Amino acid sequence: MVECLTSVWARHGRLTSEVTYTESHRNMPRYGATDTGQALPRRCGRDCNLAAMEIREVAVVGLGTMGAGIAEVFARAGIGVVALEIDAAALNRGVGILDASLSRAVTKGRLTAAEQAQIRSRVRPAAGFSEAAAVDLAIEVVPERMEIKREIFAELDRVCSPDAILATNTSSLSVTAIAAESKYPGRVVGMHFFNPAPVMRLVEVVSTVLTTDGVAATVSDLARRLGKTPVQVSDRAGFIANALLLPYLNHALHLLATGYASRADIDLAATVGIGLPMGPLALLDLIGLDTALSIMEVMHGEFGLPRYMATPLLRRLADAGRTGRKAGRGIYDYGDSSASDNHDQGGNALVSAAPDTVTLIGAGDDVEAELASAMASAGINVTRNAAHPTDLIVIAAEAGRPVLPAALAAGRPEQAVGLHLAGKLAPGSLAEVVQTSLSSADAVEAGTALAAKLGLATVRAPDRPGFLAGTLLYAHLADAVRMCQDGYAGPTDVDTAMKLGCGYPRGPFELIDAAGAASVLTGLEAMHEAYGYPEFAPPPLLAEHAAAGIAFAASPRPGR
Ligand code: CAA
Repeated sequence: MVECLTSVWARHGRLTSEVTYTESHRNMPRYGATDTGQALPRRCGRDCNLAAMEIREVAVVGLGTMGAGIAEVFARAGIGVVALEIDAAALNRGVGILDASLSRAVTKGRLTAAEQAQIRSRVRPAAGFSEAAAVDLAIEVVPERMEIKREIFAELDRVCSPDAILATNTSSLSVTAIAAESKYPGRVVGMHFFNPAPVMRLVEVVSTVLTTDGVAATVSDLARRLGKTPVQVSDRAGFIANALLLPYLNHALHLLATGYASRADIDLAATVGIGLPMGPLALLDLIGLDTALSIMEVMHGEFGLPRYMATPLLRRLADAGRTGRKAGRGIYDYGDSSASDNHDQGGNALVSAAPDTVTLIGAGDDVEAELASAMASAGINVTRNAAHPTDLIVIAAEAGRPVLPAALAAGRPEQAVGLHLAGKLAPGSLAEVVQTSLSSADAVEAGTALAAKLGLATVRAPDRPGFLAGTLLYAHLADAVRMCQDGYAGPTDVDTAMKLGCGYPRGPFELIDAAGAASVLTGLEAMHEAYGYPEFAPPPLLAEHAAAGIAFAASPRPGR
């Protein structure tokens, strides 16, 4: 690939490009880091232009799914785009993605044909880097391999004016390392979009210790012009959104690989149970398993913690070329919607009818009362007497408390399952059918049928702390608190990033505040005690909020 790029540049770029900067520019002193490497204010003549500049034309280098989406976003905002690709075939493919997206918008009535033509006319497919000589900003959107990025930045350095900002859309590689090799490191920033770029509203604007003052502000203004919301961060692997999202997705894949839950149940627990727009496994397929793997590897290299270690199945699927939607097959199969591979909901398909009589055991709380009344309304006879012969024992399960002791106490553990409501009992809301190591297959079937009769969406989960939705969520929330505790980002920026970058209806801190820090703490403590994994250890900042009984939104000092 690199050889190929190099030869393309030799043909179209290096040989034909006019170097546009003057000798005086070339002799300018390097600016940026001080001896101490601290991000101190930088002073220079030319850099100051970067801060105030107006962006009229950009170059987008790399027109894959993300690059084409980013080119579309610029063109829609009235900004001219010079589109660059590795060769003519790739350029045609990339322009094809852009055309398909615009045509879809016209079909859906969101664009007129005239607007489509106008937007399209702003995108100029280019034969070589020399055509990017006059752009105000160039953004690189190529695969996550440092050697390719280096070559591209060397070309951009060579052809672009020193006044131009050079941006990378890298998800996780070091922006600082890219900047350090540039002739003008002060103008290099991260401008990180989210997939699908035309839809997701977040742009992470990443400054390094070398970035000239004001450049991040200029790029943030540009992001606003594009209709996006910028969040400014410093250069750390994964920035905000990927550093939180990817470990959660990886954890979900680990649960699948270890047989903790089925593929369909994992995705249902996240969408119906937590309210996220996509399940983690479907989202991995959207992002690309190869991309997810490289982000995990970079984060593991940077932080060294087990939470960032790619689960072996992620590596195997990427090795196998099952990289997700773009390959037609990843965790799901996209080529053939009827493929047997896509039908693992069979585990929850109802083969038995809901039981007529049920023994309900609970803590005498609202949940138990709610379940009893819902069952009675559904025509099911409910008794609280375990000795009474019934078809099924249902234990109203609570997060953080195992079901098995109650099942044993009832004397018929093989006929007992837990039923855990992830939220309020309402039609379509999620019930986790909790199977202990003694629950019979018939009892699990009957429990699932019962939940379905109550109008609930069901998933099956083992009798482990957090069951399914909580297991996914608590560890994810702990990561968010740790990020804040580390002083990398505050709760508001974290919530904004996850809402606008990943479509969360509520950010992690809003979720913690809604559930109560104490309840998240209890869930994490149970997980940590059961598994002993350091990533489940509750962060002190969470424990402090729980002890003080204070919401993150109300905290005078939300991070330290
Ligand atoms: N390109 C352009 N537009 C798209 C699109 C695409 N690929 N996919 C969906 N859309 C548009 C649709 O046209 C639709 O717009 P209209 O309502 O105007 O017609 C809108 O988005 C909603 O789409 P749908 O109704 O088809 O589907 P949905 O409601 O399920 O939403 C979704 C789809 C926006 C992708 C939503 O599921 C979502 O927000 N998912 C989370 C995505 C996410 O987390 N992205 C971040 C991944 S991490 C990343 O990208 C960073 C990285 O470095 C790896």
